[in-house]
Amino acid sequence: MDFELLARKALPPAHWGYLTTGVDDDKTLRMNREAFDHYQLRARRLVDVTHADLKTEVFGAMWETPIYISAVGSQRAFHPEGEIATARAAKAKKTTQMLSTVASTAVEEVTSALGTAPWYQLYMPATWDDTEKMVKRVEAAGCPVLAWTIDLLAGRNTETGTRFARADQRDCSTCHNTSPKAGASTQRNQGKPMFAGLSGNMNPPGATWSYVDRLKKMTRMKLVLKGIDTAEDAKLAREHGADGVIVSNHGGRAAETGRGTIDILPEVVDAVGSQFPVFVDGGFRRGSDVYKALAIGARAVGIGRPYIYGLSAFGQEGVERVLEIFRAELTLTMRQCGTPSIAQIGRASVLRNGARL
Ligand SMILES: Cc1cc2nc3c(=O)[nH]c(=O)nc-3n(C[C@H](O)[C@H](O)[C@H](O)COP(=O)(O)O)c2cc1C
Repeated sequence: MDFELLARKALPPAHWGYLTTGVDDDKTLRMNREAFDHYQLRARRLVDVTHADLKTEVFGAMWETPIYISAVGSQRAFHPEGEIATARAAKAKKTTQMLSTVASTAVEEVTSALGTAPWYQLYMPATWDDTEKMVKRVEAAGCPVLAWTIDLLAGRNTETGTRFARADQRDCSTCHNTSPKAGASTQRNQGKPMFAGLSGNMNPPGATWSYVDRLKKMTRMKLVLKGIDTAEDAKLAREHGADGVIVSNHGGRAAETGRGTIDILPEVVDAVGSQFPVFVDGGFRRGSDVYKALAIGARAVGIGRPYIYGLSAFGQEGVERVLEIFRAELTLTMRQCGTPSIAQIGRASVLRNGARL
């Protein structure tokens, strides 16, 4: 969390506001953190913990660590090298990167910096025609996974961000083709590389589960739904052909007074079973947080703001350091709990409010 303070110092008010904001009174944002206190670790002793092995299998690929970089838009707002610095750090630290639809760098450039194609986070364009163009483009770039974000289809109220933007005295038109204060996202998107040749409209509010069927038919990529917050929707996702789900509330940036994602995770894992890939993000700041999610049954854990704190303060090096700290803390927790491999971490490794799950 030391990086948070440094990021705040490094960033102009509007950009800090974009990073730090939740929605309304930021209660869901806070719940993501507070909910970790509902869980305690059950450490086993006298297991040989000389070596820890963090390797994790995800969609047939072997990951070095169960921690991945989640999608954060417009990363040039945080550092001039933006998504490229993040990609270089991800490559150096052998970490999977998920690229945002509203990235300030194109998927093709990120792919060359990363040395492999990233996961692609989809904000669905408003028409099927534009959606198909975007999906074909990222498929051609080699992206193995399409993560469709479905928690912003109704819009949102980022009040904290709006306040910071109002306090910013700079002339935004030197970088933005329209003032971010105006909230005209369609026009803003037109300047984003992933919307080249497209209208810029996105997040159709009329989307239903039939959209999942149609998207699934459109692509060979694995399809993951980002923003699943109930057992019912996790089951529907599986029934409609999704290959995995991400338990997420957009880092507390979608709906207000929701639950912390770690509190949602048990019902989702129980609904779809341990063989179905369930990912989670929201409020992960310590290796022990990651450990709790793995114990409940998450396949891997996404981080958002922490690596952006590192990026804002120190560019690529900052992202690398944040990834290193997460990995070192998770390794330590795994060894302390007598579970030095991912397979050994399970429901017996954790308690909820003192009771077995
Ligand atoms: C500044 C910012 C921008 C984000 N942009 C996107 C985005 O473009 N697409 C998306 O699916 N999620 C986006 N997210 C949500 C993250 O992918 C992730 O769900 C969330 O940040 C996890 O919570 P954390 O920040 O507490 O780690 C963004 C989050 C932040 C903080």
